[in-house]
Amino acid sequence: MSNSSPFKSSGAPRTIALEAAAVTREFPVKGKKLPFTAVDTVSLRLYEGESLALVGESGSGKTTLSRMMLGLLAPTRGDVQVFGRDISTYSRLELARIVQPVFQDPYASLNPRKRLHDVISMPLRASSSPSRDEIRSRVEELLRHVDLPLSFAERFPHELSGGQRQRVAIARALINRPKILVCDEPTSALDVSVQSQILDLLKSLRAEFGLSYLIVTHNIGVVSELSDRVAVMYHGKIVEEGSVDSVLSDPSNDYTRQLLSAVLPIDPDQARAAIEAAISTL
Ligand SMILES: Nc1ncnc2c1ncn2[C@@H]1O[C@H](COP(=O)(O)OP(=O)(O)OP(=O)(O)O)[C@@H](O)[C@H]1O
Ligand SMILES: [Mg+2]
Repeated sequence: MSNSSPFKSSGAPRTIALEAAAVTREFPVKGKKLPFTAVDTVSLRLYEGESLALVGESGSGKTTLSRMMLGLLAPTRGDVQVFGRDISTYSRLELARIVQPVFQDPYASLNPRKRLHDVISMPLRASSSPSRDEIRSRVEELLRHVDLPLSFAERFPHELSGGQRQRVAIARALINRPKILVCDEPTSALDVSVQSQILDLLKSLRAEFGLSYLIVTHNIGVVSELSDRVAVMYHGKIVEEGSVDSVLSDPSNDYTRQLLSAVLPIDPDQARAAIEAAISTL
């Protein structure tokens, strides 16, 4: 995909949906004077309508950064802007209508005691006072969008497979028609055979709803199939950022090269073939 320019094809600048401006997050360390810096002066933009993959080894700061971009964690320094306005000036409900999370583990993220009708409609009920009919029709609309039978509205989370639960989590994230999804490893708790189905679902929902995605991932399929740009994190910093094609085929940073070579051969033609082979077996 070539959706990586900061300008629209008309030449007009693209709208910035979500932006981290020199964001740092420190955590205190027991018994030590100096805190640990999990995210170090990171600046990152997500343009409206684009899909940006955030990759990097375990502990590099991806979840910490994405939680700050969701307003779930305050930066120690720097700020996060949502459509040009400081995230801390939005009320919780205002923010919930613009940006929603999808977490890695659909087993932990759904209330086990609630029927799916209530699970999916929770953000809608929290943000307005919809009628019963309105709730029912919105839940059914979302079940259709995520390809689940309407009868699932009466089920409990434990009656679903992992992939079905992740579909429910995505339906819940979309019920308030947000503009941005921040997904933290949305496929990695799932069986390999199910990962590609969730990948396909995210792909079609992006087109249907005109969504922007910030996706933390270790899945090369998510990067190559679902993303326009990729940002690479290392020790709390963004060390490389560019279009998926340029970063995958010609990584400029040694760490990126190593990271990719863990899953891909380095030669670009081989890499392309490996990506396609990997996707076809997902
Ligand atoms: N609440 C916290 N208190 C102290 N340290 C933390 C806290 N949250 C994260 N960290 C530390 O910050 C660093 C970055 O963690 P983070 O969860 O952002 O990494 P990650 O890139 O998402 O890793 P993974 O790929 O394993 O999910 C780690 O060293 C982690 O131990
Ligand atoms: Mg993480």
